[in-house]
Amino acid sequence: MNTLSFGIDFGTTNSLVCAWGSALLGEGRPVAFWDKAPAGKRPHPSVVWYGPHATPIVGREARQNIGSNTMNMGHAFVSSVKRKLGRNQEIELVGGQRKPAWEVASEIFRHLREQAQQHETLQQSNLAMTDCVVTVPVDYRGLQRREIRRAMQRAGLTLKCFLHEPFAAMVSHFYDPTTKLDGVAGKRTIVFDWGGGTLDVCITEVSTDGTHVYEVAHDGIADRAGDEFDLRVMNALERKFIQRSSLKLDDLPLRGNARDRFRLAAENCKIALSTKVEERVEVPNLFEAFGKLHDLEETMSRGKFEEVARPEIDASESCVQRCLTKAGLTPGLIDHVLLVGGSSNIPAVRAMMERIFGARVAVANEPDAAIARGAAIVAAENWMPYNVKDVGVALSDGTLFTVLPGDRPLVPSESQKFTFYCVDPRDGVARLQIAEHRSKGDRTLSNLADCLLITTDPTVRDFRALDRISVQFIVTEDATLRVIAQSASTGKRSEAEIHDLCFGLKLR
Ligand SMILES: Nc1ncnc2c1ncn2[C@@H]1O[C@H](COP(=O)(O)OP(=O)(O)OP(=O)(O)O)[C@@H](O)[C@H]1O
Ligand SMILES: [Mg+2]
Repeated sequence: MNTLSFGIDFGTTNSLVCAWGSALLGEGRPVAFWDKAPAGKRPHPSVVWYGPHATPIVGREARQNIGSNTMNMGHAFVSSVKRKLGRNQEIELVGGQRKPAWEVASEIFRHLREQAQQHETLQQSNLAMTDCVVTVPVDYRGLQRREIRRAMQRAGLTLKCFLHEPFAAMVSHFYDPTTKLDGVAGKRTIVFDWGGGTLDVCITEVSTDGTHVYEVAHDGIADRAGDEFDLRVMNALERKFIQRSSLKLDDLPLRGNARDRFRLAAENCKIALSTKVEERVEVPNLFEAFGKLHDLEETMSRGKFEEVARPEIDASESCVQRCLTKAGLTPGLIDHVLLVGGSSNIPAVRAMMERIFGARVAVANEPDAAIARGAAIVAAENWMPYNVKDVGVALSDGTLFTVLPGDRPLVPSESQKFTFYCVDPRDGVARLQIAEHRSKGDRTLSNLADCLLITTDPTVRDFRALDRISVQFIVTEDATLRVIAQSASTGKRSEAEIHDLCFGLKLR
């Protein structure tokens, strides 16, 4: 019987589905369902166009129309909706209509499903796209993951499991259908994935016997990625225009679709500067001064771009250093260094990575598809994520009371209940620190989430009457850990959500 499994990379700027399974064995490797753009293998732009059509238009067609249609009444274009998930944000569309971000995101999932469904392999084998492994940024919280699940459901898809984006890229890069990840047994890889919305870094290791692959550490930054570079380019061009023209502008930038056109031009300029040393930017009728329209016509050099992008690049370097520190490793202990994500094409970003890791820096195979392909491989191999490190409560003697052992599948669990005693209630607060062992065999503790503060009765009584704090640990269907603590004396509760557990996969 033919089988096919699916992986989805739902990105801020671009999204892609890949499939893998017996129906594709002739291909020898997972297949990406690219946009059928004449330009070749391109992912689908994560842009949704609401207009007079029966269903919203998604992808390349939507992106191509951003510049031309937003002036017209009755059109709304939504880009980067992934950044709005989990923030209780509604998106304003046409005619005062508002939609929750997850509903807009569901249109992207619907588009991806429809595109995959039209592919000849699915048509010939009569297979439907349903269960999928979906990748998320390393810092994606529970609510953001829940909204992804909800968006998928609305699009007729079911979530098989989540996987971190850079982790999926690593799997894709080294996977071999026969030997799995044996080629990198005992090796450590750092993956640097800088896209349109987030920077995600993770250090992975394959066990020496090739039976497991797991994250040693990860770190990420939200909202400081490609979209932010575009804004910085816009600001720099605007300042240059004002300086040169000495115009006092009434309106910066102009009403209607001017901002969208400006943003696209800034993004194109940024992309061009990855291969050219200077780029000219022209945006007609961008600014208004004394009731007259002015075109923006400026040039930007790569040097100037690197100057305006410096704060972001420095932040990305700190993120890499934090990840190494969390793992307790130095750069010399990393065997492979992989770059993925559109923003990693910036020469100054690669140079920064080469300063740290030298000649080991390499671009992942087919970087635009690596994340979706990794997800499809995990789906087809039926590798289900497990929690890598022992997680529990830090005790006052510096040891860990383990609740979630470090090899437990990250699937929803019954609540596990424990009781602790508050030994010093005098300030009216019982403190509970959730922590993990830094790595297997290392008893050093790393804190997870802020210390939970539970209101207790400050009256000091004898030790037989110490306040009892009951604590529940629950693994959710979003692969997060919910911790609920309650004081027996005051009945007050406090909750924490831990969303950054390290993923591992059992390969055999
Ligand atoms: N050659 C290039 N030079 C610089 N930036 C680029 C280049 N190519 C693409 N980008 C930028 O990379 C970003 C898109 O990258 P990518 O497709 O990896 O993001 P994404 O996966 O959609 O986002 P995320 O993973 O953050 O959710 C955009 O900001 C785009 O402008
Ligand atoms: Mg991405």
